[in-house]
Order: sequence, then structure tokens, then C-alpha cells
Amino acid sequence: MPNHILNAQQFSRRDIDALFDKARSIREALASGTPRLTLTGKILATLFFEPSTRTRLSFESAMLGLGGTVISTENAREFSSAVKGETLEDTIRVVEHYADAIVLRHHEAGAADRAAHVSAVPIINAGDGAGQHPTQALLDLFTIEDELGAIDGTTITLVGDLLYGRTVRSLSYLLAKNYSVKKIFLVAPEPVRMRSDILAYLKKRRVDFEETENLERVLPLSDVVYQTRIQKERFGDRAEDYERSRGIYIVNAKTLARMPRNSIVMHPLPRVDEIHPEIDTDPRAAYFRQARNGRLVRMAILDTIING
Ligand code: NCD
Repeated sequence: MPNHILNAQQFSRRDIDALFDKARSIREALASGTPRLTLTGKILATLFFEPSTRTRLSFESAMLGLGGTVISTENAREFSSAVKGETLEDTIRVVEHYADAIVLRHHEAGAADRAAHVSAVPIINAGDGAGQHPTQALLDLFTIEDELGAIDGTTITLVGDLLYGRTVRSLSYLLAKNYSVKKIFLVAPEPVRMRSDILAYLKKRRVDFEETENLERVLPLSDVVYQTRIQKERFGDRAEDYERSRGIYIVNAKTLARMPRNSIVMHPLPRVDEIHPEIDTDPRAAYFRQARNGRLVRMAILDTIING
């Protein structure tokens, strides 16, 4: 597996299978009360220039769970030297001396690549603007495999903000490159349809996919409904497009009634109003299990890239 984790395309099926095997064996070790402390003496730096709950805390919890330690600057946009005008490159050139790996979240697409360019320690892209979020997509895949038994042969419906949602962008790349899914439905309001780079990649990989605005119709065909939040903070001066995109697709009890019995609903979280809490207790609501898997998959990722 590569050293830096910058995008989804860099992963082969072999990399992913090895990672998931490791995640499952870490899960067993934890369940039997004998955690493996494979990162004792190692230090992880988390550098977040954008808000985060799950990603930062699950990475930090994963590091601690493997015996390592964590240094962190909360809200690096305000509290790091970025506020004094320091470039991202300079920040990385300094932090690399303090840590064995750096988890970076940034508001600009391409930031992780820039960081990797100057860093001697592994950079993990924890979200770069509307670019990618590869570790989220890996834990999403792990969840699908864990819940449904396999990813090949499934029909996956991606819903919501497919333009700015970096998790669905990374997930699309991973699915197209490494799996033979039955079909991918892309369900989005017109202003936030999937960008042409992903559509071209799906075509190149000969994935059977369809863009549609009719969620109702595709629900009975879906093994996975992957809902996303409309990324309000990324619309800039397109406030009108945000208003035209929000509140259109809501997953609720009526939605679930149209889905197959052993299908699942996923969401990278946080949700706003796009999944009604009335379905939280339905066994098909997989989003909190998905968040739980985040720690596990990130333990496997940290162990792999820090220990080699
Ligand atoms: C997502 C993100 O930050 O891209 N959250 C996450 O990492 N689980 C999704 C979002 O913010 O809507």
C-alpha cells in the first residue's frame, strides 16, 4: 500500500482486501480484550482546517487504541500559524518533524497533494475541499461488505450533493476501479449533479450507471441507499442553487417501505434533515454502525502506513 493516502484511485483491490482483513483482525483482538499496541512510541498529528467530529476523533481514538499518541491543533484555520499567513507547505515542513504521520483536512481541493509534495512523513487526506475523502470511502466499503456480505453484484444509489460531496466522489472511484457492481444510480438535484470527471471514469471502467432525479423509482432496486448532506458551505455566491438543492430528497419511513428487506441506508454524517430520525431504530439504518467502523478501518490504515 502506498505511503501517502491522497485519493481513492491509488488503491487496488489487493490493498483494500488486505486493509479490511487487518481491520477485522483488530476487531477480534479488541473483542477478546487483547488490543494490539502496534504503534507504541509513535506520534500522529491531526491538522484540521475545517470542522470535523467523526474523522478527527476516530483517527485520534484509533491511534490511541494502538498504543500511539496524538498531537493536534483544533481548528487550524484559526489557531495555527495559518492565521499569521504561513503557507500550508511551511506548516507541513515543520509538523513533519514532530510526528510519524499527518492527518490533514483542508478547505481547498488539492491541499493533500501539495502537503505530500513537501512531506517526509505520510500524509493522510481527511477531506480536501470538494475533492476527495478516501479514508471515509474505505470505511464505507468496509461497511457495505460487513453488512451485505459482498460489494460485487450490488446496486448502489448515491443521493444528494454529488457535486460537492467528497465522500461520494471517492466512493465512486473505489467502486469503479475495484468492484463489479450491478449498477450505480446517481440521484441528485440538478444544481449538484455528479461532476464530469467521475462520469468519465465510470464510463471508462464500463460501470453500468444512471443519473436520475427519481429516487422513488430506484428504491426497490437498491441494496444501498447512500444519502448525503447538501454541502451548504461550498456554494459561495450560488446561494440560490443551495436553496434549489436542499430538502428535495428525504429518507424517512416512506422511503424505507419501498426498499428491499435486506438493504441498508448509509450516510457519512453529519445529517441535517435528509434522514428522518424516525428510521434510526430500523435495522437497515446503518449510518451509526458505519461511523463505528471508521475507528476500526482507521486503525488498520494507521498501522499499515506507519509500520509499513
Ligand atoms: C463528511 C465530510 O466532511 O466530507 N463528513 C465526514 O467526514 N464523515 C460529510 C459532510 O460533511 O457532509
